[in-house]
Amino acid sequence: MSPKPTPADKFTFGLWTVGWTGNDPFGVPTRADLDPVEAVHKLAELGAYGITFHDNDVVPFGASADERELILKRFRAALEETGLKVPMVTTNLFSHPVFKDGGFTSNDRSVRRFALAKVLRNIDLAAELGAETFVMWGGREGSEYDGSKDLAAALDRYREGVDTAAGYIKEKGYGLRIALEPKPNEPRGDILLPTVGHGLGFIAQLEHGDIVGLNPETGHEQMAGLNFTHGIAQALWAGKLFHIDLNGQRGIKYDQDLVFGHGDLTSAFFTVDLLENGFPGGGPRYEGPRHFDYKPSRTDGYDGVWASAAANMSTYLLLKERAKAFRADAEVQEALRTSGVYELSEATLAPGETTAQLLADASAGDSFDAAAAAERSYAFIRLNQLAIEHLLGAR
Ligand code: GCO
Ligand code: MN
Ligand code: MN
Repeated sequence: MSPKPTPADKFTFGLWTVGWTGNDPFGVPTRADLDPVEAVHKLAELGAYGITFHDNDVVPFGASADERELILKRFRAALEETGLKVPMVTTNLFSHPVFKDGGFTSNDRSVRRFALAKVLRNIDLAAELGAETFVMWGGREGSEYDGSKDLAAALDRYREGVDTAAGYIKEKGYGLRIALEPKPNEPRGDILLPTVGHGLGFIAQLEHGDIVGLNPETGHEQMAGLNFTHGIAQALWAGKLFHIDLNGQRGIKYDQDLVFGHGDLTSAFFTVDLLENGFPGGGPRYEGPRHFDYKPSRTDGYDGVWASAAANMSTYLLLKERAKAFRADAEVQEALRTSGVYELSEATLAPGETTAQLLADASAGDSFDAAAAAERSYAFIRLNQLAIEHLLGAR
């Protein structure tokens, strides 16, 4: 049975996800355009909480001020009618050919100035629609050839762009935070800020880093062969998991953007376990929207588009149910204790203990029985099998 989502589950979708018409580098669209107003109604019917978009998903690039107002009026009316929220807004700095060498980091200063102004205008719209998060995915910020970019200057300009946008948010008193979205490659050969770790390192260099965090995407970390759950865990631990893009990916290849859970299902289980149940020993929790950034396969018609939107949500809810059962199982709790999972929460030094005291402690030195400690079996395999059995519904 597929569980039915409600707005309380806080599921959100990019307009560009259900609205993707199937054009790829090898072929033209396989589906007709989707009216954003229809997307709002359909997602509301399916039980979603919100919709997110790039400026140009709603208002075409180059539209006049009057056209823009007319389009937004119609969109706002659909939001009011359905109660669907807009918790996140983002800017398209990648589709138009003017951005072929990037927005914030284009070698051409006039392009950088145009990109920055486009972002500031979109921040006004995000604030007006009550969004909390402003995502920046710099898909064109990068290069194909290492010699074509002064990488230090590119990072300076990236910092300048993000700090200017964050400073603008503060100056205007908007309740927005910026979330940078890492991706290793595609569409550029190599993209700047390729992983969660690079993103965290970059944020530490910002003047307004207090309102800048991350929007990690499942498939983007997995494209680089990295562990997505570890990535969001470190972002959470650093207080920087501002938003999340959930989808599916199978291994190191192009960005598949599959339905959540249709890629590495075991990894998806532990992602949901972390998001819903938190770290075993407590610690920071993610409270934001569960945002899906996927592409309904171009083989499918609109029946498949809406089936895939529903599939993201029901798969998440099924995994949530499974993850709750996993944690509540007395045998799992016992296995967690046997494996020492809770022991890791205890500080290595005693309260107030100095390095001199540690060095003088024989039990941490000469009298430590390394051979005996090495004998310990952590029994991680049994613990993981319990997780798999819960995931498969066998317990
Ligand atoms: C991608 C990205 C984008 C961004 C979106 C929001 O790989 O294409 O994931 O979908 O999430 O542009 O900024
Ligand atoms: Mn993606
Ligand atoms: Mn994304």
